Amino acid sequence: MVPFAKVFAPAKVNLTLHVTGQRKDGYHLLDSLVVFADVGDRVAVQPADAMSLDVTGPQAAGVPTDDTNLVWKAAALFEQPVAITLSKHLPAAAGIGGGSSDAAATLLALSDITGERRLPEGVADLGADVRVCLMRQAALMSGIGEVVVPVPHLPPLHAVLANPGVEVPTPTVFKALDRKQNKPMPAKLPRWQGTRALIDWLGAQRNDLEAPAIGAAPVIADVLEALSGLSGARLTRMSGSGATCFALFDTRDGADIAAAALAQDHPGWWVAPATLT
Ligand code: C5P
Repeated sequence: MVPFAKVFAPAKVNLTLHVTGQRKDGYHLLDSLVVFADVGDRVAVQPADAMSLDVTGPQAAGVPTDDTNLVWKAAALFEQPVAITLSKHLPAAAGIGGGSSDAAATLLALSDITGERRLPEGVADLGADVRVCLMRQAALMSGIGEVVVPVPHLPPLHAVLANPGVEVPTPTVFKALDRKQNKPMPAKLPRWQGTRALIDWLGAQRNDLEAPAIGAAPVIADVLEALSGLSGARLTRMSGSGATCFALFDTRDGADIAAAALAQDHPGWWVAPATLT
C-alpha cells in the first residue's frame, strides 16, 4: 500500500484492426495487433475524504471532471474516495485509447493505494479496450476486446501520430461499416527479424474501420495523405476507429524529423513522434 500513486497512461495504437464478425448484441468481433506509445496521459491518485477529479494539461479542454469520466468510474469500483489528477496529453475520442488507458492507469493506481491486487467487478463495463490497456505491452486482441494475449519480442516501431482535431464517435464508425465479416490476420504471427520485416508484414494487413471513418470524417483521408507524403514514411494507417492515424519509420530520428515537418505544415493538428512497443 502506498499513500500516493502516479501512473503513466500510454496511447494505444492498433497496428491492425480486422473486423471479423458481429455478435447478436451488436458488438463486433475483432482481430487486432495492439502496441503502446511513449506518449500518453498521466494519472495521479491519493486517498481523500471525498471523490474528486481535476483535469490539467494541453488536452484538458472539454474533458469531464465528474462521474461521467471513465477515470472516475474506474476509481469508484474500489469504493474508497480518492482525489485524482488527470494530466491530458492525448486528444479525446481519437482511436488511441485515451479514455481506456486513463481508466486502466487509474485501476493500477488504486490497486497500489489499496493493496488490492484483484481487479474489482465491473472492469469489463468500462469499455472494450480497458483490458488491453491494463497489459500495456504489445498484444493480440480478439473477441470484442476481452481476449488479450501478449506478443513478446515485437521489434520496436517508430511512428508519427497525427490527429486533425475531429472527434469520431466509435459507435458511428462501427455502424457505418458495410461488411462485418472480413478476413482475420494470419493465425500464426511470424517471428519478425527486425523493424523493417514487421513493417513489410503490416503492409499486408488492414484497419477495416478506415473506410467508414473516412465516410464520417473525410479529413482523415487528408491526414493519411499528409502522413504518407512524409520523407521516410514506410506505412500509413488509421488507429482504432480514428481519427488518429500513424506513419511508421525505420528510425526514431526519421520519425522526429517527419513529425516536426508535419506539425509545421498543419499547426492545427495534434502531432507526436512516438516509439511503439
Ligand atoms: O466498449 P466501448 O465503450 O469502448 O465501445 C464503444 C462502442 O463501440 C460500443 O458501444 C459499440 O457500439 C462499439 N464497439 C463494437 N464492437 C467492439 C467494441 C466497440 O461494436 N468490439
